[in-house]
Amino acid sequence: MANRTLGVIGGTGWLGRAIVEALLEQHLLKPDDVLISNRSGTSTFGPDVRLLADNQQLVDLSNVVVLSIRPEQFRTLQINASGKVVISLMAGVTATDIRAASGAAVVVRAMPNAAVEIRQSFTPWYSAGPLDERDRAWVQRLFECVGTASEVPDEDCIDYLSALSGTGPAFPAMLQLALTNQAVAAGIPLAIAQQAARGAVVGGGQMLARHDPQQLIESLMAYRGVTAAALQSMADENIEAVIGRAVAAGAAVARRGM
Ligand SMILES: NC(=O)c1ccc[n+]([C@@H]2O[C@H](COP(=O)([O-])OP(=O)(O)OC[C@H]3O[C@@H](n4cnc5c(N)ncnc54)[C@H](OP(=O)(O)O)[C@@H]3O)[C@@H](O)[C@H]2O)c1
Repeated sequence: MANRTLGVIGGTGWLGRAIVEALLEQHLLKPDDVLISNRSGTSTFGPDVRLLADNQQLVDLSNVVVLSIRPEQFRTLQINASGKVVISLMAGVTATDIRAASGAAVVVRAMPNAAVEIRQSFTPWYSAGPLDERDRAWVQRLFECVGTASEVPDEDCIDYLSALSGTGPAFPAMLQLALTNQAVAAGIPLAIAQQAARGAVVGGGQMLARHDPQQLIESLMAYRGVTAAALQSMADENIEAVIGRAVAAGAAVARRGM
């Protein structure tokens, strides 16, 4: 993969565009070394990033091909990527199916999330096939352009993590909405409820960048006051089991395929 040209099929979508923007901003690749394709023929990139209508032409001109299309769009995609490294961002499509459909030499499955937009995604990735140390480092660096990344030991980790980190803002959004709705039900005016819930989830969440959650909970419990009572109630209701079932439901869909 020396002198890499990266082709991103679906490079104008939510994930594809953010990744291409980030790797150009961070000079991992020059615009000349990036190709993107889509069906509509429209792109927000300048003329330096070549937009192709023909996916096979993109594959032929690239050393590494990223599949940033939706799983249902993959079913009708026809490419021959034999000898190439294909990196799939698709949830619920196995490396075996991608290799069978594309002839790729190596398939890497990666699972970024919507926070690519703010370069705060965590991206687990798994290589179903041999990658040498330089190529592994390059894949890692590619995803570090949009946040943090880690290689995981097996493909099932990708399916499980699709439902955990792959869901991006979904769990915090659900928590914020629940806090808002419950506050309104308790008689707090809507605008205040929204402000308070946002402060708790967005403001409070930012503290977790600097604090260990277990230590934070222990120190808040130690006051034996309002926060401790709220946390104890969640523990009594077995909040971990509720969350565990939610992630398991998502992971089951990823494992079953879409
Ligand atoms: N968004 C997330 O939070 C998230 C999180 C984890 C994983 N993923 C995975 O990432 C993948 C992409 O998601 P996304 O949210 O970025 O989707 P998206 O915004 O809908 O982007 C899909 C892109 O693919 C293009 N496209 C569709 N069919 C094509 C084809 N046959 N040839 C070339 N281009 C084609 C579309 O453009 P045209 O319509 O112009 O063709 C569009 O630019 C999905 O498989 C999803 O499972 C997404």
